[in-house]
Amino acid sequence: SSELQGGGKGGGDQFSRTGFILAAIGSSVGLGNMWKFPYITGKYGGAAFFLVFIICLIIIGLPVMLAEMAIGRGGRGSAAASFTRLSGKKTWGGLGFISVLASFLIFSYYAVVAGWTLHYAMLSFTGQLFSSTDFGGRFDSFIGSYWPVFWQGAVLLLTVVVLAAGISSGIERFNKILIPGLVILLIVLVVRSLTLEGAMEGVSFFLNPDFGKLTPEAVLAALGHAFFSLSLGMGIMITYGAYVKKQQSLSGAAFAVGLGDLLYALLAGLIIFPTTFAFNLEPAQGPGLVFVVLPVAFEAMPLGAWFGGLFFILLAIAALTSAVSLLEVSVSFLMERVRWGRTKTVWITGIICFIVGLPSALSVGGAVGGLSFGGKSIFDWVDFVTSNVMLPFGGLVVTIFAGYIWKNAAEEAGLTARWFKVWLFMLRYVAPILVMLVFLYSTGIIHF
Ligand code: PHE
Repeated sequence: SSELQGGGKGGGDQFSRTGFILAAIGSSVGLGNMWKFPYITGKYGGAAFFLVFIICLIIIGLPVMLAEMAIGRGGRGSAAASFTRLSGKKTWGGLGFISVLASFLIFSYYAVVAGWTLHYAMLSFTGQLFSSTDFGGRFDSFIGSYWPVFWQGAVLLLTVVVLAAGISSGIERFNKILIPGLVILLIVLVVRSLTLEGAMEGVSFFLNPDFGKLTPEAVLAALGHAFFSLSLGMGIMITYGAYVKKQQSLSGAAFAVGLGDLLYALLAGLIIFPTTFAFNLEPAQGPGLVFVVLPVAFEAMPLGAWFGGLFFILLAIAALTSAVSLLEVSVSFLMERVRWGRTKTVWITGIICFIVGLPSALSVGGAVGGLSFGGKSIFDWVDFVTSNVMLPFGGLVVTIFAGYIWKNAAEEAGLTARWFKVWLFMLRYVAPILVMLVFLYSTGIIHF
């Protein structure tokens, strides 16, 4: 049923070879690499954990990513329609729709946090950030105000403008400009943090292997993070895959993206740990780390306002290139359904997303801050349900579909007979079991 085909697919607007790889790296490199990965690595045994993380990336991250890319390119449709087209069954499209929903919801709060980073970049460059050293108080009063809505709107506007320009002159061009910028900023900041006095203590905390801390919980954390970090389970690689040329090697692309994500994570750790240790700070995770802990270090180092500003720009770039990929999942889905042009679809999706994100923008401390259910704000709930429930579900759908249902997976993935066997084995037996375990653990159904 080629009627499901949205605009811009097939022969039309597509990624170039490097454009696709950069866009996929842009999607996978995000806030998680900076505020989650270093923290869990430090907590679960440094280099020992890092090793487990690499193994997880290889044995389930790459096979699932390849499956998503192949489903997208084979189906030439959105994260829902591609399943329907390849299997001939609407049920599969319905299951795929869950990931469309997941990416839509994740986007709604991701745009809020991306907005915070832009605000902080400005505060740092102008020196306002350092007018008082009560960084916790400043953060609370910022997220308690209406300003986050303004910045959320700014992020949405930018995302909408990029997506409206299409695949090659929108998403691809955006990533081709921002990813080199990201690399330069990373290098500048790594050099800065490694040359701080006392930096090496941080490096050794980060990278000294402590196999004693490698509990089953650590392994599941590594698995869950490998999944989230590669942006799997929410239809992104399927959506992007639909815009990839037939000649491009998908396994090569998946490998490059995995490597890019891994390197970024490593360098992020080499920024976070030396900086926190040099200033005797507690390495934390999440918003607290970047908006409250690190400003203390920026305040104390020479030219700190500049390094702080560059750091927040780095975060903003990482977040924006992910945001663009998240919203495209919904855009491509809607384009197939409603048959509006790209521009109109993008604007309408963007506006809806802005509205859906408002409770997240205001619920952390702001106007609806008092609103919490079971001890979680709306923001935390959206994060919890999407990352811990919908994302593993989306991953499971992909592994089962590519492993058992779709007959031409081998051809699309372009693997040699031997590698295809390995891939199929991972998709059929290893990945679904591990993804289920992560799900049961992260939702608290099982614990250690
Ligand atoms: N992979 C991104 C990160 O590491 C997060 C993300 C998840 C981005 C899902 C897009 C979609 O932060």
